[in-house]
Amino acid sequence: MRKSQIIYGTQTGNSQEVAEKLKEEIERTGFEIECMDMFDGDPDTLFGCAAVYFVVSSWGEGEPPDDSLSYFNKIKGFPDGHLKGLRFAVCGLGDSGYDIFNGFGKDLESELLRLGATAITARVDCDIDFEELSDPWIETMIQHDKSIRAAVSANQR
Ligand SMILES: Cc1cc2nc3c(=O)[nH]c(=O)nc-3n(C[C@H](O)[C@H](O)[C@H](O)COP(=O)(O)O)c2cc1C
Repeated sequence: MRKSQIIYGTQTGNSQEVAEKLKEEIERTGFEIECMDMFDGDPDTLFGCAAVYFVVSSWGEGEPPDDSLSYFNKIKGFPDGHLKGLRFAVCGLGDSGYDIFNGFGKDLESELLRLGATAITARVDCDIDFEELSDPWIETMIQHDKSIRAAVSANQR
């Protein structure tokens, strides 16, 4: 079966914390799921995925964390429609006190839509108290992940 992935982009660990919480919760339902920093990931592996759950923060002027730049540049280099069939969700972590609130989350979502991927749910823009929105987002992702696994096992019967 095609896998799901959790990918995070972080500078100081908040996005990693959200991503690892999602991993733990999904694994509690009895399934394994990969969870990795963009720094260790390769966008080419998205091609074979059923769904990918992104958790990313914004730095500078709404830009990716340093360690996420090369992953994002690779995504930007893909041709239109390259990730057709992929389902994705973006949870952005930021601070509304900055001029470009959650700029990287927004830019990542735009790129994924340009590549033909389909959003599972509306992008979430978390503010300083990120758990207020990231916890409900995690809940939605758990339900989504369960539903794709159930659909696959029904097809295999
Ligand atoms: C120097 C600095 C620059 C930041 N720039 C932005 C920004 O441009 N837009 C935004 O929404 N948040 C910005 N933030 C807030 C962070 O994205 C936020 O604290 C986030 O939770 C950090 O997540 P991380 O630990 O996963 O990197 C900035 C924070 C700092 C300290």
